[in-house]
Amino acid sequence: MLGEATDYGHPLIHNQVLSYTTKRHVIGQDVLEPTCWCVHSILQVIRQRAGRLETPVMESLQNKVTIITGGGAGIGRETALLFAKYGAKLVLADLNISGAEAVAVECKKAGLSEDDVLAVEANITNEDDRKKVIDECISKFGRLDVLINNAGIGRFAPLSQTPSDMYDSLMDLNVKAQLYITQLAVPHLKASKGNIVNLASIVAEEAMPYTGVYGMTKAAVAMFTKTLALEMAQFGVRVNEVRPGVVFTNFYDGMTGGNTEILQKTMMGENSKHPMGRLPKTEEIANAIAFLASDMASFTTGNALYVDGGRHCVGAGFASRPMTA
Ligand SMILES: NC(=O)c1ccc[n+]([C@@H]2O[C@H](COP(=O)([O-])OP(=O)(O)OC[C@H]3O[C@@H](n4cnc5c(N)ncnc54)[C@H](O)[C@@H]3O)[C@@H](O)[C@H]2O)c1
Repeated sequence: MLGEATDYGHPLIHNQVLSYTTKRHVIGQDVLEPTCWCVHSILQVIRQRAGRLETPVMESLQNKVTIITGGGAGIGRETALLFAKYGAKLVLADLNISGAEAVAVECKKAGLSEDDVLAVEANITNEDDRKKVIDECISKFGRLDVLINNAGIGRFAPLSQTPSDMYDSLMDLNVKAQLYITQLAVPHLKASKGNIVNLASIVAEEAMPYTGVYGMTKAAVAMFTKTLALEMAQFGVRVNEVRPGVVFTNFYDGMTGGNTEILQKTMMGENSKHPMGRLPKTEEIANAIAFLASDMASFTTGNALYVDGGRHCVGAGFASRPMTA
């Protein structure tokens, strides 16, 4: 009996059955038969519940061909590892090919076969590279189910002093590259009735000193998500976005001119600005992306899911002073 229960692999269920049978056995031999009968009935209920509990997100992502731009580090890496555990087939498109290849190796350790993951060197601000990502995906896997528009950069300066090259690099990657790689993906997503998950930010809506142009790019992503969701709904293609709080990744590397001590202090200072008292973990962002990409979100489109410990609820007042060390 207990062996049967462990087949469900759920420690809670296993413990429930264990404590139930232990209690009944104390009463004595005479109740053994009804015990077995009762346990059998309980196991049937557990069997039904276990089916519901364990795997809805996991099951619906299995074998889903998924492109993750910027899959070689940070949130993209964590999302790749989670999708690998769920059995998705992955294309990791990154400017940094050694990062993408290292993540591909980790994905194989997480359960993917050699053939299930492809690392593609691509600077997605470049038109030919965007085409290469989609072409290599289709020639290897024959389809595309999920596009995760994750690659993005942060550059921070007061709006009054933002130089035009900073403006251009932010807009080129965070907005323009995303629009044009999505255009290439759309015919394949229509064919698969797939979906798109974009990475926006809390600063898509809430103003924060020093993040002006970055915030403008994420506000553009927010409008991109909603408009595309409307245009794609008739084709059964969903489009959603995740808005993380401050996630301590390489994203902030340049913020303090390479001074890691100041960077650490800055990040510590960010903890208290998230009402739950800490920064989000990359796994928590990946979970939200997986949910939106899965059939669990089958009637959700044009939506923004915050993963910020409640920070956006504080509104524009959450950081009325510039971020300084
Ligand atoms: N980290 C945060 O606090 C935070 C908060 C909100 C939103 N986001 C968004 O999440 C996304 C991922 O951020 P992250 O924290 O994982 O960043 P990260 O810097 O850790 O990783 C970004 C990845 O994108 C790749 N990349 C950069 N430019 C590229 C290009 N032109 N073409 C292809 N790949 C490129 C990098 O090589 C890297 O592997 C970004 O869109 C970012 O705006 C991050």
